Order: sequence, then structure tokens, then C-alpha cells
Amino acid sequence: MKLHIADSYERASGLAAAEVCRLVQAQPEAVLCFAAGDTPRLAYSLIVQKAREEQIDFSRITFIGLDEWVGIPPENEGSCHYFLQENLIRPLGLMPAQVHLFDALSRDLSAETERLNQAVAHAGGLDLILVGIGMNGHIGFNEPGIPFDSYAHVVELEAFTQEVGQKYFRTQTVLNQGITLGLRHLTEAKQAILIANGLKKAEIVRQAIEGPVSPDVPASVMRLHPGGLFLIEREAASALHSSPA
Ligand code: GLP
Repeated sequence: MKLHIADSYERASGLAAAEVCRLVQAQPEAVLCFAAGDTPRLAYSLIVQKAREEQIDFSRITFIGLDEWVGIPPENEGSCHYFLQENLIRPLGLMPAQVHLFDALSRDLSAETERLNQAVAHAGGLDLILVGIGMNGHIGFNEPGIPFDSYAHVVELEAFTQEVGQKYFRTQTVLNQGITLGLRHLTEAKQAILIANGLKKAEIVRQAIEGPVSPDVPASVMRLHPGGLFLIEREAASALHSSPA
């Protein structure tokens, strides 16, 4: 595990974007998994900008979406699908055949988890996974208590996650289940990057980095990944004992 404390959100986002672009330049057929959420928004815009400026070819990558709110249609602005479509898939000009996202409207969610497990496996595993951290320490929708060795699954969301998730939606929305890749996808990925920013994440970041490695704080699984990079903006790092902030 590596910890990088960045001076600003811009700096953390720039480093994440640079890492994604470096990988795609070196390995145009890379298999990339991205989270939705407010945290990676700037990193994604910088990836798109860099891809245009430096003419980086994303046409052969495989794109995997990390998670989705069950029952939320892709055209809903609060869905992960919509977010990834608007911030990465469309601006990068990716083709449907190279993109794998959960269908959260499927009547057979268990088949959906298997479909995404297979998509990752057939692509040869993830080369890079870029994630955020939830206020309760979740990664994707791997809520506290989910075993580290899980692949894709459907999960009942904590009341806190349902409440925090309202920020993505224009109106009060039922968010009782999520569908997500598992933490084993993260530990098996060749590279894993977790970005966090803002004071509100400081305490959970401290627990993930300095508390016990335990499913109680799913993001602590990053410490089991030899190349796992915590990319933490200064304020989000301010509760770390090892932090100079
Ligand atoms: C959400 C998503 C996660 C995301 C996390 C943090 O609920 N399921 O994939 O990384 O919580 O979100 P944000 O970046 O908006 O703080």
C-alpha cells in the first residue's frame, strides 16, 4: 500500500488522471474499472482533456462500471450509468461493445452479477480500478461487513448510504439496494487507486488507513493490495496521525 497526500483536490485528481492515461498509453487494451460519485468527477474531466490533447487512444480499452443503484434507470441523472456516460464514456467516444455496466433494472440481478463477473474474467481481470470512499467506508456498494473475498453481488444498503445517496438525485428517491463488483475484484486488480477529498471524509479515511484491516471498514482492504494507492487530498488526510496536515 502507498499513501500520497496531495496539496489540493486538483492535484489529487491530476495524479489519478495521469496514472490512467499513462496506463492506456502503455497498454491500449487495458481493462479499467471506474466508480461514479462526486470525488472522481475532476479526475474524469482531466482524463478526457488529456486524452484529447495528447491523442491517447481509448478505443481498445475495456470499460467496467463499478456499481449501480438497483431500480434506477440509466437516464436518471443520479444513476452511476448516467454519471459515467456523461463524464467518461461519451466524451471518450467509447463504443457499447467495450463498455460493461450493471443493468439495475434487470429482473434477474443474480444473472447481472454473473454477467459482470464474466466480463471482468473474460477481459483477463482488471488492470486498474479507481474508486472513492463512502462516508461509512464502503467501496462501490461493498457496505461494512461484506467479506473481502466477494465478487459481484447485490446488497441491502445501510440507511446512512441511502441518506447520503440522495445528494445525486433531484427528488427523494428509494435507494434500498445496490449492485456492485466485489472487493476481490479490487484486490485482484493490478492497480488500485482510492481518491478521497474534503474534511467530511477525514475520519473514515483515518479508519481506512490507520485502523484495523477489517470488513467493518471496507476501504481498509486497500492495504492488502501491494500496489494499492491512497490518493488523499490534504483536508481528507487531516485526521491521520502520520499526516503533516
Ligand atoms: C457512492 C458510490 C461509490 C462512491 C462513494 C463515494 O455511494 N456507490 O462508488 O465511490 O459512494 O461517493 P462520493 O465520491 O460522492 O463521496
